[in-house]
Amino acid sequence: EEPPAALAVPQAGQDGLVLLKNIGVVDPYDLDDYRSHGGYTALRTAFSIGPAGVIREVKDSGLVGRGGAAFPTGVKWQATASQPDHPHYLVCNADESEPGTFKDRVIMEGDPYALVESMTIAGYAIGARQGYLYLRGEYPRALERLTHAIEQARSRGLLGENIMGQGYDFDIEIRRGAGAYICGEETALFNSIEGYRGEPRSKPPFPVEKGLFGKPTVENNVETLVNVLPILTMGAQAFAAIGTEKSTGPKLFCVSGNVERPGIYELPFGATLGDLLELAGPPERLKAVLLGGAAGGFVRADELDIPLTFEGTREAGTTLGSGVVLALDDSVPLPRMLLRIAEFFRDESCGQCVPCRVGTVRQEETLHRIADRTGAAAAEDIALLREVGAAMKDASICGLGQTAWNAVESAIDRLGAYE
Ligand code: NAI
Ligand code: SF4
Repeated sequence: EEPPAALAVPQAGQDGLVLLKNIGVVDPYDLDDYRSHGGYTALRTAFSIGPAGVIREVKDSGLVGRGGAAFPTGVKWQATASQPDHPHYLVCNADESEPGTFKDRVIMEGDPYALVESMTIAGYAIGARQGYLYLRGEYPRALERLTHAIEQARSRGLLGENIMGQGYDFDIEIRRGAGAYICGEETALFNSIEGYRGEPRSKPPFPVEKGLFGKPTVENNVETLVNVLPILTMGAQAFAAIGTEKSTGPKLFCVSGNVERPGIYELPFGATLGDLLELAGPPERLKAVLLGGAAGGFVRADELDIPLTFEGTREAGTTLGSGVVLALDDSVPLPRMLLRIAEFFRDESCGQCVPCRVGTVRQEETLHRIADRTGAAAAEDIALLREVGAAMKDASICGLGQTAWNAVESAIDRLGAYE
């Protein structure tokens, strides 16, 4: 069988890759192959420098979360490690569901041992003995490969009791999602693991203090975790030298839409949107790019000099989010696409809080009304969208409601949609 991950990685096998170096190169079913390509040297380093040393390296590397919110990983780890309440838990958020996002899938299918090793290192650093891997239900191939990798690691003393003879016990349990976007929200995910409805909890308290089963918990995205391997093998300073001062390291981008070579690309932070599209083969008549997914926003075809960094996209009034770069040419009917995004958020709202439960319905209704008028909007429609959007952004409990209007807002303000 042709590895599907390799198909989605146009750079597979190229020199100089950090996060994608094993994809299409190392057999995802072969632990020995993984080890012969440098696998498990990072865990060995972790044992030699101790938990505090690992946290220091992660902090010094400048690593921030790759799920979309860019919170400093070392700060999170330190906060949980220092909690007196026990047990501590590690949760890997692999419920990758943001429309246009498929980077974690490529890692899990193409390099599953890397995630198992990274979770073991993270568990060691924060003093956890149990890790949960919450996997998107629609990723059966990732499930099969990760299950195999975990079994193999366990049978070879790399998971379970006394790992590598170092006196550290840690194991990983996989839990599958059942198709709800909201279960990727970190606290809804805890509820789902605990057997409750997948509804977000109010924060604070943050999970670092009260997370899974009310205990101190680190929850990290898949891509965030696998960055810990190069941090330990190359050292924090060398890792921090990649990218820019505020966005350090390599980054995976999910390129889709009207490009010649869609797939996952790895570039150091700081490359521009134009650089990335050039690699993927841009369309002849580029109209716009959706950056950061449905929760992100549109930018225009004349804004390709935006640097792909957290600070650069923020300065440009947009977001990098989970690394979605969806290119649209002028054949795409924008009002139809916005309506689809609005439908998605209405459908996926958990309904727990009013601004989001009602706001996503009103947003969709208004966009329907505009579409029925063949795309031309009345001034009062736009005013209503803005009012509902502001209420969702300001008053929703979680990120879903807070971002449900981002794409529509950016299409109105940056692309002049409906004019
Ligand atoms: P957030 O900013 O509330 O939190 C980010 C992380 O930092 C969380 O783990 C939170 O617990 C932690 N944190 C924040 N402040 C803290 C503090 N003072 N002390 C300790 N920990 C703290 O963002 P959220 O809601 O977790 O994520 C939103 C992002 O998720 C969006 O940017 C969106 O792009 C992304 N997203 C990604 C998806 C995907 O499939 N990858 C799906 C949907 C959204
Ligand atoms: Fe649920 Fe939406 Fe409220 Fe989030 S903002 S808790 S998804 S109703």
